[in-house]
Amino acid sequence: MKLIMLGAPGAGKGTQAKKIAEKYGIVHVSTGDIFRANIKNGTPLGMEAKKYMDAGGLVPDELTVRILLDRVAQDDCKNGYVLDGFPRTIPQAEVLDQELTKLGDKIDYAIDVNVPDEAIVERMGGRRACVKCGATYHIVNIPPKKEGICDVCGSELILRDDDKPETVQKRLDVYHEQTQPLVDFYQKKGVLKEVDGTKQMQEIFDEICGILG
Ligand code: AP5
Ligand code: MG
Repeated sequence: MKLIMLGAPGAGKGTQAKKIAEKYGIVHVSTGDIFRANIKNGTPLGMEAKKYMDAGGLVPDELTVRILLDRVAQDDCKNGYVLDGFPRTIPQAEVLDQELTKLGDKIDYAIDVNVPDEAIVERMGGRRACVKCGATYHIVNIPPKKEGICDVCGSELILRDDDKPETVQKRLDVYHEQTQPLVDFYQKKGVLKEVDGTKQMQEIFDEICGILG
């Protein structure tokens, strides 16, 4: 099974993608997580990506596509994957489509997690992410058992640099301009499924499972 999670920054793509990956035994591939891991390790890729991410912009397509195609070509992706945060532009979607077609393959579903902008701004300010394993929390909605500490691995929780309010607004603008057109793109391919991302996490997950079967 090959899936794409669409949705604004903070819509809950990562939250749902992790649960889907676990239940269906497929790999969760988040380009944002890959970039953040590289930033943390101080790699050249990380340093390049950080310039764009901290400003709330997109990392250039060429770089992002190369990273993504390398990742999904690895052995563990043979049984399928759920892409979270990719594609984010029409050119990215077109390259993915061409590569899959070459392999005689295709995307099964693109799941659009729908959340209005006002709700996004509230969510992002409260999000905390683990510096080590990338698990995410929300200080009110999904608090960790111990404040500031990751339930999964015991590392420190931080506010992402790009979750500062002024950067969130910029990310939303970029989303509407460059990423939202993908909803139409996948609708035309007949694989689009919409879910209401303002519901409770578990309710959304149940709805997605109903779609995936
Ligand atoms: P990325 O890491 O993909 O960030 P994003 O799309 O902005 O998405 P987020 O991770 O912020 O949100 P999410 O939808 O995963 O929400 P989450 O589940 O955490 O990308 C970061 C940057 O990297 C980009 O800005 C760009 O610069 C670069 N980049 C990445 N991919 C790229 C690409 N393909 N091309 C170019 N550049 C790229 O949930 C959010 C919060 O809400 C959490 O606190 C969570 O606990 C809470 N929450 C989740 N669900 C619910 C719910 N149902 N109710 C209440 N709270 C909820
Ligand atoms: Mg995410």
